[in-house]
Amino acid sequence: MAGRLNGKVAVVTGSSRGIGKAIALEFAREGAKVCVNYIASEDRAREVLNEIRAYGSEAIMVRADISKPDDARRLIEAAVNIFGTIDVLVNNAAIMYYGSIMDLKDEEFDRMIDVNVKGTIYCCREAVKYMVMKRYGKIINIASTAAIGTASHGTTLYALTKAAIIALTKRLAFELGEYGINVNAIAPSFVPTDMFVQGKSEEELREILEKRKATISLRRIASPEDIARVAVFLASDESSYITGQVIVVDGGRIDYLTHSL
Ligand SMILES: NC(=O)c1ccc[n+]([C@@H]2O[C@H](COP(=O)([O-])OP(=O)(O)OC[C@H]3O[C@@H](n4cnc5c(N)ncnc54)[C@H](OP(=O)(O)O)[C@@H]3O)[C@@H](O)[C@H]2O)c1
Repeated sequence: MAGRLNGKVAVVTGSSRGIGKAIALEFAREGAKVCVNYIASEDRAREVLNEIRAYGSEAIMVRADISKPDDARRLIEAAVNIFGTIDVLVNNAAIMYYGSIMDLKDEEFDRMIDVNVKGTIYCCREAVKYMVMKRYGKIINIASTAAIGTASHGTTLYALTKAAIIALTKRLAFELGEYGINVNAIAPSFVPTDMFVQGKSEEELREILEKRKATISLRRIASPEDIARVAVFLASDESSYITGQVIVVDGGRIDYLTHSL
């Protein structure tokens, strides 16, 4: 069956669950060979691997902490060694610690910078070595509407890490364009994955979801697949003349309309 990513080799960081998992599965459905990455959830990564293989696509799984340069190198090398190349890198893995600037611990802030910012840079650096040689590549960074401006308590320093990802996307697009490498970002708004659900009761969650729906033009909450389908577009050659862009995937947040609330 002809897929939009037939034969492409993709590394998706943090693809054991959440948005990364949906991207890995959607890529495989479109014919890509996928390198699934995780740091702790080995069983969940294996489930993703098996699901991909059930579609008839090829996949490997690699435990790597992207915040460690040696691990990032090992991750990209694993894909290249097994599949012979790398065409697409999705920098999805990230963490979020809630807390205001007054109470977030130094270790939490450092860890967010290490994973969300440095980890993304390390993976780009390794993938680009191969992409530059073949003068082809797609880098997709998962940013967040937090980086653009949300009035959401306790996420200021997380937002800062995502703003760095947007700057990185634009500058890498500029730096790597001459080598035929497209670099774009997706900015999801709110997707009910473990990252968001953490620490909330079912009751709290239901209330938040209802309130959120009312701030979205489409009046529904995003699924991980809503984000994954945009990643497929950016990974495919349908988007070959798009680079340096941030695609906001938020269902049309009405609170971005000035003075709407
Ligand atoms: N959910 C939202 O509302 C939302 C909104 C905007 C943007 N985003 C962004 O979307 C992306 C995915 O978020 P999500 O909600 O799907 O998160 P999630 O459910 O918490 O999943 C995070 C993934 O990242 C992996 N990971 C964490 N630290 C890692 C490390 N150091 N090295 C390698 N992998 C690591 C985790 O692996 P393990 O399973 O092994 O721990 C897991 O696969 C993130 O970039 C996030 O900032 C999310």
